[in-house]
Amino acid sequence: MEDSNQEGKDLSRRSFFKVATLGIGAAVSFLLGYPLIDSIVSKGKTFMNKTYSRLVSIKNIPNSFSPVKRPSKYHFTKTDQDAYIKTNKMEDVWVVKKSDNDITAFSPICPHLGCRYNWNQEKGLFICPCHNSVYTIEGKLVSGPAPRGLDTLPTEVKDDDVLYVEYERFEVGVPKKIIIGY
Ligand code: FES
Repeated sequence: MEDSNQEGKDLSRRSFFKVATLGIGAAVSFLLGYPLIDSIVSKGKTFMNKTYSRLVSIKNIPNSFSPVKRPSKYHFTKTDQDAYIKTNKMEDVWVVKKSDNDITAFSPICPHLGCRYNWNQEKGLFICPCHNSVYTIEGKLVSGPAPRGLDTLPTEVKDDDVLYVEYERFEVGVPKKIIIGY
């Protein structure tokens, strides 16, 4: 009788350790896997925020080639919607207008390593202050370590003559233009 009691106790102790080991194993797997899950979910969230933002009326954008060669920079508020939460972010883009029907928007981020480049009026070129990548007003790479030219952004004309831009973020340091977020 005592033997069977002892056996019962051993069994329940064994079951307890078995359950405890499984529980700890599951917790460790979850913790190790969490960053991966989080990064997938985060990317999903970022990609949900694809939206066109209102920039400016086309007739108010100066011609970028005449009478002087000069691009225009526009700041705008980008509204992201995450479930029921709306957040506003300030962004900016460079715009080059050849004519009302020929307008290009560039991401303000240098495709080398992600600094913000500037327009140098004296040289008539975009120059990145970080490692000196140089681009033409049309976004072509002239010199420097950048692996590609400036990244163009999708634009749309709505409400008759208002320019909208879809802000996108791209992978830096690679020759191919790869979208990594909005
Ligand atoms: S980040 Fe622009 S040249 Fe390096």
